[in-house]
Amino acid sequence: MNLKLKVWDASKLVGELVHDSDLNRFSFAYSRQWVEAGGYPLSPALPLFPAKDRSAERHGADARNYFQNLLPEGRALDDAASMHNISKANLAGLLHALGRESAGALMFTSDTTAPYEKSEVPPRLLANDELSKRIQARPHDSFTVWDGRLRLSIAGYQDKLAILQLNGTWFLPESAQHSSTHILKPEPVNPQLAGMTTNELTCMLLAAAVKLNVAAARLDHVPEPVLVIERFDREFASPTHHVRRLQCIDGCQLLGLPVDFKYEQPYGNGPEVKNIRGGASVQRFFELLDNKELMRATGPAKLGFLRWVIFQVLIGNTDAHAKNVSFFSDSTRLALAPAYDLVSDLALIDAHVSDHLAMAIGDNFDPRSVHAYDWALMAHESKIAPKLVASELRSLANQCLKQLPDIRRQVLEQGGDARMVERVSDVVQDQCKTALSCADQITVIGPDNF
Ligand SMILES: Nc1ncnc2c1ncn2[C@@H]1O[C@H](COP(=O)(O)OP(=O)(O)OP(=O)(O)O)[C@@H](O)[C@H]1O
Ligand SMILES: [Mg+2]
Repeated sequence: MNLKLKVWDASKLVGELVHDSDLNRFSFAYSRQWVEAGGYPLSPALPLFPAKDRSAERHGADARNYFQNLLPEGRALDDAASMHNISKANLAGLLHALGRESAGALMFTSDTTAPYEKSEVPPRLLANDELSKRIQARPHDSFTVWDGRLRLSIAGYQDKLAILQLNGTWFLPESAQHSSTHILKPEPVNPQLAGMTTNELTCMLLAAAVKLNVAAARLDHVPEPVLVIERFDREFASPTHHVRRLQCIDGCQLLGLPVDFKYEQPYGNGPEVKNIRGGASVQRFFELLDNKELMRATGPAKLGFLRWVIFQVLIGNTDAHAKNVSFFSDSTRLALAPAYDLVSDLALIDAHVSDHLAMAIGDNFDPRSVHAYDWALMAHESKIAPKLVASELRSLANQCLKQLPDIRRQVLEQGGDARMVERVSDVVQDQCKTALSCADQITVIGPDNF
């Protein structure tokens, strides 16, 4: 028996995903209406008109990779699997269970009815005191299951909840007619990660202050601190309260990689495997961002991504992997989406988090020792002008140093944790000083040095 899932964008049928249970193989076919109406392709690996010589194995792997990237990770994935009595490895079953609201615009049903056409039920109120109780209950009670139903269907490891904010009141979406507008992130349960909401808020506000395109974020207290992040893949129309879903894909989907290749060294950095760098890398991103057939505008996409890469080093974010960058997608091609999940991992000194970059600068994975040679090698391999790298590095480092005092004040005004603000601020200052000390040398290093 095969499982067939209809894939929708609002009321439009995008196509059908089929799981052949005998061969454990996926296939995805666009609907005729979608292709004729000029719909967007899901990703570069799943084009509207596939090459004739593409093998079923290749296509099956591409389809699996794309759809697997929509699933949550960590405990939310465990909960999803156990709630629905599905194995964690059963992608089709999980998509069916979680498919009402994924990242971007796609929805999944097992029948032919568009999810939007079903009857209207009101969204479910989410009061602060209930949220507070659920935040406290997390060690023994899953944060993503509410009223016996799983509420989360976006990627990532941290506890989070997708909510609909209407006139300042929070709701949980009850049916496919409702879309969430914000993501709530409480403090992680792990006490070693205490201050994470402040850490992320500081980095997000700093990014906005230095003019990176970044999702809006603020800190709320219920009374536990909750980071409230505006979804950039949702467009809210105030008079009607209608929320339009915008399609976007993450970096793994752009590169056609499976979830576990979100790091450049997919097998880790042990001595025998550290040289296998087949995962997502800065160079692979720049190659695709330079492709005029894929991108709406290659220049802004490359500049935006370069600034994203530099900013991760300046804040000491070692977890800037390929699922922490996204791209808007429509029939006019792809464009870089706002930044999100900006965290200074180097400031989490008690938590034993990795001090190894998700994607290297040149060949260097150590965020504290990224110097001129590494930036120059990155520019060379990625075919970007070293002069541009040097000027953006200088400019972003100077702006971060200038904006830090005001950001510290803003975070404290929002009730942020004073110790964590100082830690993030110390890391950013050190990283910016290192960057400024080497920026002038980047253009001196020529291709003969590599
Ligand atoms: N502001 C936003 N608008 C739309 N989608 C977002 C936004 N922020 C995050 N997402 C989506 O939700 C996913 C999870 O969010 P996020 O990366 O913040 O979670 P996380 O659990 O901290 O991730 P990680 O596992 O990298 O630590 C992202 O991969 C992205 O697809
Ligand atoms: Mg993330």
